[in-house]
Amino acid sequence: MAMSPDSPLIDELDPVVQNYGDLRDPYSGYAENRGVGIVHEDHLNVRVFRAYRYADVEQILRDEKTFSAAINGELMRPFLGETILEMDGPRHQQARGLIAHPFRPTVVKTWEENLIRPTAHEVIDGFAARGSAELVREFAWQFPVRVFAKLLGIPLTDYEAWGRWAIDLERLSMDWGRGVAAAHEVRDYFAPIIAARRAEPNGDFVSELVTAELQGERLTEGLIHGFIRLLIPAGQSTTYRLVGTLMLAMLTHPEQMEAVRADRSLVPAAVDEALRWEAPVQFAARRANVDTEVAGVAIPAGSGVTSVLGSANRDEARFSDPDRYDITRPRQSHVAFGEGPHMCLGAHLARLEAGVALNVLLDRLPDVRLDARDTDPHWVGWAFRSPTSVPVAFTPN
Ligand code: HEM
Repeated sequence: MAMSPDSPLIDELDPVVQNYGDLRDPYSGYAENRGVGIVHEDHLNVRVFRAYRYADVEQILRDEKTFSAAINGELMRPFLGETILEMDGPRHQQARGLIAHPFRPTVVKTWEENLIRPTAHEVIDGFAARGSAELVREFAWQFPVRVFAKLLGIPLTDYEAWGRWAIDLERLSMDWGRGVAAAHEVRDYFAPIIAARRAEPNGDFVSELVTAELQGERLTEGLIHGFIRLLIPAGQSTTYRLVGTLMLAMLTHPEQMEAVRADRSLVPAAVDEALRWEAPVQFAARRANVDTEVAGVAIPAGSGVTSVLGSANRDEARFSDPDRYDITRPRQSHVAFGEGPHMCLGAHLARLEAGVALNVLLDRLPDVRLDARDTDPHWVGWAFRSPTSVPVAFTPN
């Protein structure tokens, strides 16, 4: 059964719950903390240091010898299993090389016309005749659910299951039991598919994963399952946040949206600026392996070290007028996708999906505008950021 806006599944998409808090503006606090540089707190006898400046975040995320990613396993292993997010050094390089196989740019490019663009049209078909929509629930969520489901070969009848798992894994901190149950269901669902593709690869995404080979090594069963589960929080939920953010950024900056409508070569800049301005993932966690120092602050071995990506992306030392959404600013790299050896493997796909979403929306709904009469659409969240809603009106078609 395909999802509809009235589905109970959709009612659970509360960005306040999903983003771990109703925090509207973390950025003024971030700006104060950038003035300090490195800030620390004690959590259950463990000292956690937070880096707010761009240069410090870059230093930490590039140096995996000093700052281990294994801490990600402590947080995620119970429900994701072992994933590359928690690995360091050569083992990480080897596993990442194998998992990167289906993401080769030549392969991803073929998804654009065959899968991503038709899916954007299909989702818009669901509300185009109505003349109004709420784009967070009806578009930003639905679109990556369907892209991932199709990518992984999930039949149309099971799309809702992918959305269900994504929501249960998202709400893990609220309902641990459902999160763990969802993790088991993902495993049970994909076990026969993985076995079938091993026996007879057919060139699809899962076949690419099971047949990937690097220096004579293949991915283990456990790592394939871990990766498919990781795609839910790492790929589905992040892309959903980016698409919602991009839509609201455009609609609240209509002059920039008009510029993009007139000149589609500006789409990548609009996407990238949305990533910088409202980074969907706000933190990257590490643990110090040895006694070390960042920005003159001593960090003892064993301390947690959190890179605040959303703050680094608004560091005035790197981006002028950083709180402004401005698609004309000089293009500079940012850390919305992280940095260093763990930099996001799906960055290209996420940018592609968001760009296609914007292009198709502008084509299909030429006079789309924000319709915020009774609502107050805004961004919320602490660990993650996304809009509360994006209500729009347009001429039905
Ligand atoms: C807007 C969308 C996305 C954002 C903001 C995002 C953000 C991030 C960040 C910040 C990291 C680094 C975490 C760290 O260093 O601890 C990361 C890693 C990762 N992302 Fe994404 N991501 C997005 C989309 C995707 C997509 C679409 C996929 C897959 C299809 C994906 C797969 C991964 C994987 C596998 C890793 C782990 C890489 C490694 O550990 O070597 N992400 N992502």
